[in-house]
Amino acid sequence: MEKLSTGNNLLNLTNVSKSFKKSAGEEHLVLDGVSLTIKEGEIVALLGRSGSGKSTLLRIISGLTRPGSGEVLYCGKPVTGPVKGLAMVFQTFALFPWFTVLENVELGLDAMGVPQDERRRRALAAIDLIGLDGFESAYPKELSGGMRQRVGFARALVVEPTLLLMDEAFSALDVLTAETLRTDLIELWLERRIPTKGILLVSHNIEEAVLLSDRIVILGTNPGRILAEIKIPIQHPRDREAPAFRQIVDEVYELMTKRPRSIAGKVEVVPLSYRLPSAQINQLAGLMEALAAEPYNGRADLPEIADQMGFGVEQLFPLLEALEILSFARTEGGDVELTPSGQSYVNADILQRKVIFAEHVIRHVALAAHIRHIIDERPGNRAPEDRFLRELEDFFSEDEAERVLQVAIEWGRYAEHFAYEEGSGILSLENPASYTAEP
Ligand SMILES: Nc1ncnc2c1ncn2[C@@H]1O[C@H](COP(=O)(O)OP(=O)(O)OP(=O)(O)O)[C@@H](O)[C@H]1O
Ligand SMILES: [Mg+2]
Repeated sequence: MEKLSTGNNLLNLTNVSKSFKKSAGEEHLVLDGVSLTIKEGEIVALLGRSGSGKSTLLRIISGLTRPGSGEVLYCGKPVTGPVKGLAMVFQTFALFPWFTVLENVELGLDAMGVPQDERRRRALAAIDLIGLDGFESAYPKELSGGMRQRVGFARALVVEPTLLLMDEAFSALDVLTAETLRTDLIELWLERRIPTKGILLVSHNIEEAVLLSDRIVILGTNPGRILAEIKIPIQHPRDREAPAFRQIVDEVYELMTKRPRSIAGKVEVVPLSYRLPSAQINQLAGLMEALAAEPYNGRADLPEIADQMGFGVEQLFPLLEALEILSFARTEGGDVELTPSGQSYVNADILQRKVIFAEHVIRHVALAAHIRHIIDERPGNRAPEDRFLRELEDFFSEDEAERVLQVAIEWGRYAEHFAYEEGSGILSLENPASYTAEP
C-alpha cells in the first residue's frame, strides 16, 4: 500500500471554519478553526449543544458541504465533493415506502455503479449482518422504529465504508432498542465483521459517547470550537456502573457545564454576563425543588438528577447554567449543589420566592439590570425592545440576540423589575413602580 504523509489517519481536519449567511448579509460563524484527526481503529464521539455545528461538521467531512476555509483530508486526499468509502447514518432514515427492505438497502450502492447481482449479494449480507434476516421483502411500514433504523444502518454498511459517520443515530429510538442496536454495532466493530476502519459519531447523550468511543471531542457553541478532548481507556464491553465509567461521565458533564471562558483558557468575546440560557422560571423552581428533596438534600450527581427528572442533557444544561448565573446553584466535579440562597428559595412561599428571585436577577443578571437602568434613565421610563436588540446584535447573531433578550425580559418581568407590552414591544415601569433601585 502507498504510504501517505498523514500516516494511518483516516481523517485530518485542519482549521476548518464555516459561516452561513444571515438575513441582512451578515455572517454567522458556526465552526471556527476546528482541527481534528481520526486514526485507523478509532471511534470518536463528537458532543456539543444544539447548534454547535456538529451536523455541519459531518456534512463537511462527507463532502456534502464545502468549508469556508481550512483543509479536509480523507485518507490523505483532499475532499472536494461527495466522498466514496464514507457512509452516514442519520437520526431517522428516509426509507422509500414503496421499496422493500432489500431494495432500500440496495439503494446504498446505487451511486457506486455496482452490478445488479453484486448489489443484491452485498445487500443481503448487510441485512444479515445487522440482524434483519427474514425481513428482506418486508416494506418499511411493516417494521418497528428500531428495525427501520437497522435498515438505515444496513444501507450505510452495504457501502463497506472505511469511515462511518453517525449523526444521532440512536436518539430517535426507545431506550431498550437503542441499547440493543449500540451493543450490536460495537460487536460488529470489535469482532471486525465490518471492514470499517473508523467511526465518528455525533451525540447529545454523554453516556452513549462514553459507552462507544475511544475519545470524546467536545464542540463549543457560538462559534463552534473544540473545547476539550477526553480519552476513554476502558476495555469493551463497558459496564455503565463501573467506577471508571462513572468517573468519565462525570468528567464530561463537568466539562460541558463549565462556562466557556474557563475551558482551555479560551477568551470569550461576548460579555459572559449578557449570555443567558433559555430557562423558564417554573422549570428552574422544579429543578431546585428536586435538588433540595430526598435523596439529594441539596447536592446531586448530574447524570442522576437528569435521569430522575426525565431530562435529556439538552434540557438540563440551560437550567443548570441559569441556576449558576442566578447564584442559586453551583456545578462542580459532575455534581450540582444548591447554594444557601437556592435553599432559601425552595423553603420560601410564593411571594417570598419572587422577592428572592428579584434580588438575584438584579444582582447577577447584568442584562436585566442594564435594561432596568436604561428604563430608569429614559424620559417617561419607557424603552423599545429594539433598542436592546440592536445592542445585543453587536455580540450575538440576530436570532441569538432575540432569544437572549426574551429570557432577560421573562425573568425581569417575573421579578417585576419592568413591564413589557406584547404588541408594541415597549419596556416600561408601568407595573413595577414600587421598585427601588437600591442594591
Ligand atoms: N444551510 C444552512 N444555512 C444557514 N444556517 C445553517 C445551515 N445549516 C446549519 N445552519 C446553522 O448552523 C448552526 C449549526 O447547525 P448544526 O445543525 O450543524 O448544529 P448541530 O450541532 O448539529 O445541532 P443539533 O445538536 O441541534 O443537531 C445552527 O445555528 C444552524 O441554524
Ligand atoms: Mg445536528
